[in-house]
Amino acid sequence: MKRTKLAAVLCASVALPWAAGAVELEVTHWWTSGGEAAAVAEFAKAFDATGNTWVDGAIAGGGDTARPVMISRITGGDPMGATQFNHGQQALELVEAGLMLDLTDVAEAEGWKDIIYPPSLLDSCTVDGRIYCVPVNIHSPEWLWLSNKAYADAGIPVPTNWDEFVASAPALEAAGKLPLALGNQPWQSNLAFGAITVAIGGLDLWKKVNVEKDMEAAAGPEMLKVFEAAAAARKLAEKSTVQDWNQATNMVITGEAGGQIMGDWAQGEFAVAEKVAGTDYTCLPGLGVNKYISTGGDAFYFPKLDDPEKEAAQKQLASVMLSKEAQVAFNLKKGSLPVRGDVDLAAANDCMKKGLEILASGNIVPSGDQVWTPDTQAQVEDLMIEFWKSQDMAPADAQARWVEILKSDS
Ligand code: BGC
Repeated sequence: MKRTKLAAVLCASVALPWAAGAVELEVTHWWTSGGEAAAVAEFAKAFDATGNTWVDGAIAGGGDTARPVMISRITGGDPMGATQFNHGQQALELVEAGLMLDLTDVAEAEGWKDIIYPPSLLDSCTVDGRIYCVPVNIHSPEWLWLSNKAYADAGIPVPTNWDEFVASAPALEAAGKLPLALGNQPWQSNLAFGAITVAIGGLDLWKKVNVEKDMEAAAGPEMLKVFEAAAAARKLAEKSTVQDWNQATNMVITGEAGGQIMGDWAQGEFAVAEKVAGTDYTCLPGLGVNKYISTGGDAFYFPKLDDPEKEAAQKQLASVMLSKEAQVAFNLKKGSLPVRGDVDLAAANDCMKKGLEILASGNIVPSGDQVWTPDTQAQVEDLMIEFWKSQDMAPADAQARWVEILKSDS
């Protein structure tokens, strides 16, 4: 049996019945941008090193396109060996339908409860006390990415917070730049709105609405201010014509746009373009206002395959993904934070360090995917793209529709 040192160590320490090697597992995910592809290649490399084979099943078009494909393959009897979902409830119905492999034995043997932080990540994998997924990273969407070049070209300093960013827009426009790059997909509009909520509304409001589900707060004046701020931001993005998030990031990389509100996965694109945080670009968590991050991100689920050899390889892949080596290699390229604190992150760049500091300070909130059902999320995303694209949709009208959607969450 061909095994690497890493696999041998894991085998020895947990004595789990790993595959005899040479099993092919198709792994589906939506990581198709340059940075994402570089990151996922690290997982593939680590799995291949066990003697098994990672068969890459990248699905283009982003999560909203990929997830229905993944779900219909699993429910339609054509399951893959492993698949990405976001932390939260996206795979809950599949688990409840008995279609997903129970990983509790691996999780217990490897002490996942003791190593995974924050615990909410493992909670999101747990249904009726059993563990059905392996969290692989922490991704937060509340970041403003700024192009130092765009600001140098416009002859003004790089903003240090959201208000300065908004105030810088006329100078950027005068220099022929797009102030805010925004991709034309519902989840991107919703992401921008969520980041503005944390920045403008603050943590208490965010928690009231999203955790306590206080619909009076959702319909109230503080939340209206958030909608108004989002309406001002949509003006800055009015001339943005790109579709994918990484095309928008690319506009920041080249200096065509001043900034982009996007998750920390944007770092992967800057890294691939060999741009340096602090020199070529600036990252402002919490839009430089309220330095909170939400602990969203990615987890892998393993559909039942009714094949003991494949099942052993699936569990081995789960273990490999959580290994210290793979956590470091993958997350450094992905721009996400590892889910375990006991790894060496000496190589982290400035932005990742900011994220790590916020995580250590405990200034974290759960992600939207963790608190709302996939159906609610989808409806909110549809509303948000409409709101961001219709300059004349009044903030109060959008807010009223939003509250109705949240109220129907079940
Ligand atoms: C995932 C990230 C991914 C991003 C853009 C998010 O849902 O959590 O891993 O990079 O989508 O594709």
